[in-house]
Amino acid sequence: MQDVIAIVMAAGKGTRMKSKKSKLVHKIYGKEIIKRAVENVKKAGIDDVIVVVGYQKEQIEEVLGNSVQYAIQEEQLGTGHAVKKAAGLLEGKKGKVLILNGDHPIMRPETLKRLVEESNRKNESATILTMVHDAIIPYGKIIHDEEGRIEEIVEHKDCNEEQLKIKEVNLGMYCFDIEELLNSLKLLNNDNAQKEYYLTDVIKIMYDKGLKTGSIVVSDNAEVLGVNDRMDLEVLTKALQIRINTEHMKNGVTIEDVNNTYIYDDVEIGIDTIIHPNTTIKSGVVIGEDCEIGPNAYIREGCKLENKVKIGSFVEVKKAVVGEGAKVPHLSYMGDCEIGAKTNIGCGTITCNYDGFHKSKTVIGEHSFIGSNTNLIAPVTLGKNTFVAAGSTITDDVPNDSLAIARQRQINKEGWNKK
Ligand code: UD1
Ligand code: CA
Repeated sequence: MQDVIAIVMAAGKGTRMKSKKSKLVHKIYGKEIIKRAVENVKKAGIDDVIVVVGYQKEQIEEVLGNSVQYAIQEEQLGTGHAVKKAAGLLEGKKGKVLILNGDHPIMRPETLKRLVEESNRKNESATILTMVHDAIIPYGKIIHDEEGRIEEIVEHKDCNEEQLKIKEVNLGMYCFDIEELLNSLKLLNNDNAQKEYYLTDVIKIMYDKGLKTGSIVVSDNAEVLGVNDRMDLEVLTKALQIRINTEHMKNGVTIEDVNNTYIYDDVEIGIDTIIHPNTTIKSGVVIGEDCEIGPNAYIREGCKLENKVKIGSFVEVKKAVVGEGAKVPHLSYMGDCEIGAKTNIGCGTITCNYDGFHKSKTVIGEHSFIGSNTNLIAPVTLGKNTFVAAGSTITDDVPNDSLAIARQRQINKEGWNKK
């Protein structure tokens, strides 16, 4: 979206997390809250992002690096104060600014896009994203006038008894006309329950000036929740889990138990693959069609599984490229490896990929059979059509079409146990 700038507020303390870290660097499915928030904005088509940092700003800067511009808010005097600190970067610009709380990490980019588009279409100076929630939650309440315009947002802590019952609440996502916002920010005061400069007061200022203010109500409340404490963190993780799993099911993947399957972002899974319960699949993994995964499988980063692969129970795979029809059915760790097509990895096989200093690679050719309880001491290469006897510890390469036995021969001492 051209001419749209975004400001993400990320300077607050987040005391309710009871953490040594900034709330915004806590992770959901391996990715920091603030990183998710910024990515959602970028996916909505806005590249120009300003992040307001203050409390533990180094932690946030470490996560975001130079993917954004920063504004510094040394003292946390409220969301209105935070935006004021970014105002310098807006000066002289025209068009719209999207402002977001940094603590709402699972927003759909399409929703943010819609907020800006609707704001433009309706020609409003301020458009607020809201939700209608039956229970009383500690979010700002939206007050409409008879014509449907928004008169003001009253913070939960400033509400009277009547206002507390209002079901439409503020989500901390706004689209403003830049010039009008800059004018209104100058008029903010901190005359309220928390003695803070509330960004939400800008609405009242604009309304009193006769400017157009409105809201867009979200259709899915689960996507817009914020993280204030650890319970929220759990709720949002669940919501994201169900969203991702549902997406895969819609695309033709069978998931036996959506509540006990953990698929991180950006995973590709082919149709007719079946995922059994208690499976975790990390970001970036690619899985083909007709595969069978789990139960109790852990598919870590860097894995690529071709079609018809089976990864069974209590199997961990990491940076493993597994060829078509290959099987790792039970109790194995296969890390930093290539497994050829149609190869069978016996129960209890382990790639010994780490010597305490370096990670090394194991390559196993196609149509091979690795006997149970084999240790593969990497770096090591096994050719095509090889056969490894059960219980072997393989330290040397195995040529194509060979049998490798690497274990002590058995001795039977007859009568020994009678003595
Ligand atoms: C805010 C809204 C409230 C809305 C709610 C939704 C205001 C006054 N209230 O309340 O109407 O329902 O979000 O979640 O805006 N921050 C700063 N600097 C500050 C204070 C906060 O950068 O001085 C940042 C925080 O890091 C956070 C965001 O702004 O990312 C929101 O702050 P928070 O204190 O959580 O606001 P709420 O009280 O939740
Ligand atoms: Ca909040």
